[in-house]
Amino acid sequence: MDKVFIKFPVRIALLGCGTVGGGVIRLIEENREYLQSRVGAQLEIVHVLVRDMEKDRVPECRREWITTDPDVALGDDVDVVVEVMGGEEPARSYFERAIERGKCIVTANKLLLAKHGPELVERAIERGVDLAFEASVGGGIPVIRTLREALTSDWVETVHAILNGTNNYILTRMRDAGVSFETALAEAQAKGYAESDPTLDVSGHDAMQKLVVLSMLAFGAKVPLSDVPVEGITEIDQLDFHFADRFGYTIKHLAIGRDEGERLSLRVHPALIPKSSVLANIDGVLNGVFLRGRALGPCLLVGQGAGDMPTAVSVVADIVDVARSKIEGEPGLSTRAIQMKVRPLVPPSETTARYYLRFDVDDAPGVLGRIASILGEQGVSIEQMMQEGRALDAGAPVPVLIITHECLEGRLGLALSAISREQFLRGKPRLLRIEEI
Ligand code: NAP
Ligand code: HSE
Repeated sequence: MDKVFIKFPVRIALLGCGTVGGGVIRLIEENREYLQSRVGAQLEIVHVLVRDMEKDRVPECRREWITTDPDVALGDDVDVVVEVMGGEEPARSYFERAIERGKCIVTANKLLLAKHGPELVERAIERGVDLAFEASVGGGIPVIRTLREALTSDWVETVHAILNGTNNYILTRMRDAGVSFETALAEAQAKGYAESDPTLDVSGHDAMQKLVVLSMLAFGAKVPLSDVPVEGITEIDQLDFHFADRFGYTIKHLAIGRDEGERLSLRVHPALIPKSSVLANIDGVLNGVFLRGRALGPCLLVGQGAGDMPTAVSVVADIVDVARSKIEGEPGLSTRAIQMKVRPLVPPSETTARYYLRFDVDDAPGVLGRIASILGEQGVSIEQMMQEGRALDAGAPVPVLIITHECLEGRLGLALSAISREQFLRGKPRLLRIEEI
């Protein structure tokens, strides 16, 4: 039987028309007929809010949609607000206004969700509207849906994830093509992967925001953003890739979550992972989320973590979902499935792991012995140690590499502080955690 279309279209306002917004408009316009048959009504873009009226937009964006007036974009002629502008304000105020006016919201804004997700979800539930955010984590990977729906019958025990496409792209280019950090970052920016402020990517904060959003669903947790320990990729250099390879590892920027009963361990940092790991060959802009469910066991999701069209796929899928719920008279149903409570975090000093340490030191007698003895005083045992070659120029430092046995991060930190006070050390010691995944 032919699908019967309802008379009235679902009217959409986009807040933002940059990389993601442009992709959303293109996808809706290119798949117009198909989407109409999936929703049971036409998806009609009515307003596109931007800052600059004169800027060039994707060709599918009609001139008459463009406005700089938020009152127009949040007006009575809009059913679904699609927020793809980013940032905390004014996005948050627009969200609140849209929810109060009974509009469903679709967003790609992990910063806003990581900072205010629980209160925004609660407000949407009270008002009986949907708040859908698939594109906020993992770009085109359906990870939010998977956690909210497919894994609703199980407990997630651990998450190991590559959540920032820009960082994964940079690390891959540095490792495989030997390009500098700066060149690789410029490439990622040109491809539209990076945030408008790319320090959010390379400092690890973008991945941290995504981990906090994932934790709302994976662990049912409300987590204050400032409590999650975070490190970026700016200090990794070619020598680290060289030595990681010699020890049988590669370097990835990871977001890690572990359910530890009442407490939760969350952290974001670069890590050495075995070259045979499931995440080791997830390269370039790809993101990967490796989950372990109590009953399910391992589950790996991989896909494009950034870029206009992959991200647009997630945004438009959410638009289809919320439009359908609205038409069926059940808006807010999937948002009501989200349940969260405050969960305390395990402090980093209580974490145990094996560690890769690099000390750039004077090439002099007794240096290795002194490092080993300070580590030993803090109960940090050495599994492997390597010093390659000698200083090429008189006075140049040599790198000393150490892999530790499993030890407490707090004790290792005390040892590194003591080593930092030694005269033979040149520069800051490098610490990278080893994740056996
Ligand atoms: P973008 O290219 O910088 O685009 C931002 C858009 O929002 C622009 O059109 C801008 O207007 C508009 N805008 C910003 N502030 C505004 C304001 N105060 N009032 C009105 N319009 C405003 O950003 P993007 O890369 O598309 O990212 C958008 C969101 O998606 C962010 O939350 C980002 O984290 C998220 N995201 C991005 C990706 C990606 O691959 N890029 C992937 C997943 C999620 P003008 O054009 O006039 O300046
Ligand atoms: N800047 C982000 C990244 C965009 O590189 O992953 C996707 O959220």
